[in-house]
Amino acid sequence: MSTARKRSQRLETMGTLAAGLAHEIKNPLSTMSVNLQLLAEDFAQARTPVELRTLKRARLLLGEVRRLDQTVNDFLKLVRGHELHSEPLDLELLLTDMLRFVEAENAQLGIRTRFSPDPDARMVHADPSFLRMALMNLIGNAQHAMAGAGGELLVATRGREHDVEVSVTDTGPGIPPDLHEKVFQPWFSTRQGGTGLGLPMARRIIEELGGEMRLLSEVGRGTRFTATVPRAPRQLTGGAGGDAPRAHDGSGGSAHPAAGPGAGPRTEPAA
Ligand SMILES: Nc1ncnc2c1ncn2[C@@H]1O[C@H](COP(=O)(O)OP(=O)(O)O)[C@@H](O)[C@H]1O
Ligand SMILES: [Mg+2]
Repeated sequence: MSTARKRSQRLETMGTLAAGLAHEIKNPLSTMSVNLQLLAEDFAQARTPVELRTLKRARLLLGEVRRLDQTVNDFLKLVRGHELHSEPLDLELLLTDMLRFVEAENAQLGIRTRFSPDPDARMVHADPSFLRMALMNLIGNAQHAMAGAGGELLVATRGREHDVEVSVTDTGPGIPPDLHEKVFQPWFSTRQGGTGLGLPMARRIIEELGGEMRLLSEVGRGTRFTATVPRAPRQLTGGAGGDAPRAHDGSGGSAHPAAGPGAGPRTEPAA
């Protein structure tokens, strides 16, 4: 059995056990969140030192409750069996849309963005929402890596015989070689407020879509994550650019339920 398959099966078992527990945690968290909000509102006009302290503590607790809820959500995304609906998908359009989404944030962080799509590798076969979620995690990580000093984000595609490589490259601090496997393990995070679930989830999605994820990094120079995505079936025989690019946003007649103007998950996953 392949390593990817074994990993996938292990996660499946974990998922069955964990999904119930996660829901048990989410309900009381929601009660806590609502009541902490009410408490903070009651003390919104705080004047005395005791009142001010109470307000500060309520807000702190609210922040922690929200973070815990985010962790549970990310965990559920990771362990839950995904229902993938792959379809012919215009990768260039998807990436253009994603980069537009982070444009303003990148400008604020001092990150220059470059996009280098391979014109002969537009059409892939993938689930738009899940592919977006996986790639958004890579872009989010690149942003975090460059958040302090700025830098350059390069998103590129390159067509190969049966698949398309999508790479996300940053000029951040890089990842030391001894951590190259670790970063894909659940809960590993060096980031303040990070869950350590972004990369394992992204890798799992890419593998379930029939591709693989690779990491190339050099400390002090930057990091490149590469995900491979299968080409759309027709392109395997019809050659590059054989079919008209079809929008992933439903305008091209896509029957994908999650599709709609500005398709993709409504809430971006925490990366
Ligand atoms: N582009 C990157 N540059 C440097 N380090 C990275 C990059 N992407 C991921 N990492 C490292 O991998 C860890 C795990 O990433 P991830 O699974 O997305 O969790 P999180 O973002 O919540 O920390 C990060 O905390 C960071 O240490
Ligand atoms: Mg992340």
